[in-house]
Amino acid sequence: MSNGVIQSVLTEKRVFPPFPGLVENANLSGMQAYEALCEQARRDPDAFWGQQARELLVWSKPFTQVLDASQAPTYRWFPDGELNLSVNCLDKHLGTPTADKTAIVFEADDGQVTRVSYRELHARVCVFANGLASLGCKKGDRVIIYLPMSIEAIVAMQACVRLGVTHSVVFGGFSSKSLNERIVDVGASLVITADGQCRGGRKLPLKPAVDDALAMGGCDAVRKVVVYQRTGGEVAWNEGRDVWLHDLLAGQSDQCEPVPVEAEHPSFILYTSGSTGKPKGVQHASAGFLLWALMTTRWTFDIKPDDVFWCTADVGWITGHSYIVYGPLAAGATQVVFEGVPTYPNAGRFWEMIQRHHVSVFYTAPTAIRSLIKAAESTPDVHPRHYTLDSLRIIGSVGEPINPEAWMWYYTQVGRERCAVVDTWWQTETGGHMLTPLPGVTPMKPGSCAMPLPGIEAAVVDEHGKELEAGHGGLLVIKRPWPGMIRNVWGDPERFRKSYFPEELGGVYLAGDSAQKDADGYFWIMGRVDDVLNVSGHRLGTMEVESALVAHPLVAEAAVVGRPDDTTGEAVVAFVVLKRDVPEGAEAVELGKQLRDWIAKEIGPIAKPRDIRFGENLPKTRSGKIMRRLLRTVAKGESVTQDVSTLENPAILDQLSKSV
Ligand code: WT7
Repeated sequence: MSNGVIQSVLTEKRVFPPFPGLVENANLSGMQAYEALCEQARRDPDAFWGQQARELLVWSKPFTQVLDASQAPTYRWFPDGELNLSVNCLDKHLGTPTADKTAIVFEADDGQVTRVSYRELHARVCVFANGLASLGCKKGDRVIIYLPMSIEAIVAMQACVRLGVTHSVVFGGFSSKSLNERIVDVGASLVITADGQCRGGRKLPLKPAVDDALAMGGCDAVRKVVVYQRTGGEVAWNEGRDVWLHDLLAGQSDQCEPVPVEAEHPSFILYTSGSTGKPKGVQHASAGFLLWALMTTRWTFDIKPDDVFWCTADVGWITGHSYIVYGPLAAGATQVVFEGVPTYPNAGRFWEMIQRHHVSVFYTAPTAIRSLIKAAESTPDVHPRHYTLDSLRIIGSVGEPINPEAWMWYYTQVGRERCAVVDTWWQTETGGHMLTPLPGVTPMKPGSCAMPLPGIEAAVVDEHGKELEAGHGGLLVIKRPWPGMIRNVWGDPERFRKSYFPEELGGVYLAGDSAQKDADGYFWIMGRVDDVLNVSGHRLGTMEVESALVAHPLVAEAAVVGRPDDTTGEAVVAFVVLKRDVPEGAEAVELGKQLRDWIAKEIGPIAKPRDIRFGENLPKTRSGKIMRRLLRTVAKGESVTQDVSTLENPAILDQLSKSV
């Protein structure tokens, strides 16, 4: 985050009390109730979590133990209990009035709307699960899902957990190379994909990336590729391996016996960037994950039977897992699922959809808010003021710090000064919200994610693990385990311990963010402390982009840093040393384009550097260490005022200051 944003956040003094109308009926109502719950969780965590798990989840075999900490930091929650996640999201509602309620309102890119009730969704999941079972999928297998936003994607994920199959969803924007790495790492036996996807009025192919990924090798375990027909375009077909989804599902029964799994059974693995080149497979459990997704859906979004919830994330990210596929379904909510993009057919699409579907709880990312602010300034027709947004009562934000200016616009222009803004801080690894204001509890401060949820013990510490006083920036840590927490880095327990429970901190969970607490106990997130960038709310490892650049035949060395950006939060800036002389003019532009396309192919379009700088070397200390601190200054276009006396080659900074 830019220093400007940190400054404006830290001098923010405005406070907005919660609205009495929201407080009165909230699932968690009033500061006293919140504090009592926090106190209960602190005093007797086992009793607190045990009660929640018994009341909110349906167990096929009840648990007798709440937390097994004997192998910490590998915590085991409700270890002797058994359940099925799909039963908890679907079957549970069948004998109730929720059965005939709309579960999903799907709006396609072209505006076509499809509604699915809980009963229908249950039947579709059973049919799909039977299809998967007919291909030999069984408990313990791993299945890769590479699908566009669709009812099918949700059904596929639910069908996997119905069989005890561990899913690993790969966002459709990732390249074939990234897809290959995930297929190999997870040891997938099956891939579920689509012929293509519809976004922004265009049809984009998807299956070719799967064909390429499988041809790259290491995927021998993949027996079948199931293909959902979405765009109807031509597709290359691998006889014997590829199966159309509609053929697979034809004639399957709509009854499917759910497979009970142990509470700790891996429900899914989701890859996210870390500080080394290789993304981490974040492994989540079954019971604990679902419990936390459900508890937070009920608290933060205050979900009631009449709500229409809309989370704009893609199911390829954790936000889509927790707040599209699991939390809202387990809560029996009606939710909107959107295939397209916020700017098609125009930048009023979100507001128009809120109006059309009477959305009452809306959840999106600061990067989307900032780009829609810009759009409303340049094209006044798409300003939210032209839409009826009376249905809204809670509006949420996730993915990166929201600057107070964007917060105020969201609060006044979208929320019309009568909606709670919930700025939710959490991570792929936390499974659900950790720090957030609650609609019926918390006075809101623009730019602060407020306070931890009951059961969560957050603190700001120094590098030795010593807790810091209010007003001092430090490392954000979570001092006690919670059910939704990451269980392992898939296949790499050593990396799990080192990344999240470093010895120096004495056993607490290290989030990787810096933060500070103010005198009222509010947390203010300042950004990542590791080599992870946040581009449009998506995590990107600088090392990951560097390794991809260095893999290009022309590149000798590369360093990647983030630069603050008004719309995307951070933008990728790459400093590149070629194996030849430094290019200039048109040639530099051409090579820059080549490298950008290369990154799109190696990782995905989201990782494309905004800016590429060529130099004959990188700024290094005499011992050969790249001085990234200086590169960050250069990337911002600022002049270097830092001490450069330890620099071997100070002249290089001038050369690297020029963008191509
Ligand atoms: C990182 C986690 C959790 C779903 C989306 C991102 C940043 C997330 C906030 C927020 C400030 C935030 C943090 C965190 N972040 N939400 N409300 N305020 N920063 O999940 O890809 O795992 O990224 O996103 O830096 O560590 P993720």
